Amino acid sequence: MKIKDSVVLVTGGGNGIGEAVIKYFAKAGAKVAVVDMAQKNIDRVVSEVKAMGGEAIGIQANVTSEADTAKFIKATVQAFGKLNIVVASAGIIRDGTMLQLDKETGKVSRKMGLDKWQPVIDTNLTGTFLTIRDAAEAMVNGGWEGLLVPVSSVNKVGQVGQLNYSSAKVADALLPKIVIGEFLLRGIKNIRCVGVAPGYTATPMLTGMNQEALKAILADVHLGRLIAPEEIAALIAHCVENEALNATTLEVTGGLCYPGGIAK
Ligand SMILES: NC(=O)c1ccc[n+]([C@@H]2O[C@H](COP(=O)([O-])OP(=O)(O)OC[C@H]3O[C@@H](n4cnc5c(N)ncnc54)[C@H](O)[C@@H]3O)[C@@H](O)[C@H]2O)c1
Repeated sequence: MKIKDSVVLVTGGGNGIGEAVIKYFAKAGAKVAVVDMAQKNIDRVVSEVKAMGGEAIGIQANVTSEADTAKFIKATVQAFGKLNIVVASAGIIRDGTMLQLDKETGKVSRKMGLDKWQPVIDTNLTGTFLTIRDAAEAMVNGGWEGLLVPVSSVNKVGQVGQLNYSSAKVADALLPKIVIGEFLLRGIKNIRCVGVAPGYTATPMLTGMNQEALKAILADVHLGRLIAPEEIAALIAHCVENEALNATTLEVTGGLCYPGGIAK
């Protein structure tokens, strides 16, 4: 599968990893659709791609909505005539432990509420499902060669303080195996699915954090630095070109090993 002249749609394409994927593929000659909730970021990324000589459209949408998902898939196919590569990068965190205890009584003083649970599941899991489902529908009906890329996280192993996020990301990591098994059963041969599970990546969320806390995180990373979003984009580009990669989720972590255990 070739990147040049392919059509690439990225949810969460207005920032961070999604933005890097958009720019990487646009530079390599793909036509790109930037899907995001934040119109300001969409406008910035689309104009930067155009300034590089690329072809881009922007679609403001919420990935948790079925109607919005149908809308951004349709708009992309209408604009570019097909759809080949879809990266579901829209994601959020709302960290916290399931229970908090009162220091004096030892009794439960607070529980993780649905206000923290539901948006994380809706965005990271339901949103990814809807994007992958509707992209696959368009690719099957259009007969186009396709690659579906859910974005999981290395925290799929079970990060303390992220019961909501880890639950969604472990399901995202399983999605390629289940979907490709289904395609095999149904005789769908034109679409592959490969997930990526990044480790700590240099997006605004992490680069802006407390530098001491960042140093502590990096102590577990063999590479000794944050991963560049472009390194994740490069892995996805390799997945496009290597058709032996399928029905799996690849970690890109710089060698995150948790030698001290993950429950620090
Ligand atoms: N940054 C990391 O270290 C890291 C590590 C592992 C996995 N990830 C995953 O990579 C993906 C991208 O992360 P990032 O660091 O680039 O985040 P980011 O916050 O920089 O970008 C996420 C983008 O998604 C958009 N978005 C959020 N909710 C949305 C919704 N409901 N509908 C449409 N757009 C929505 C945001 O507006 C934003 O532009 C996420 O799925 C995240 O869980 C990130």
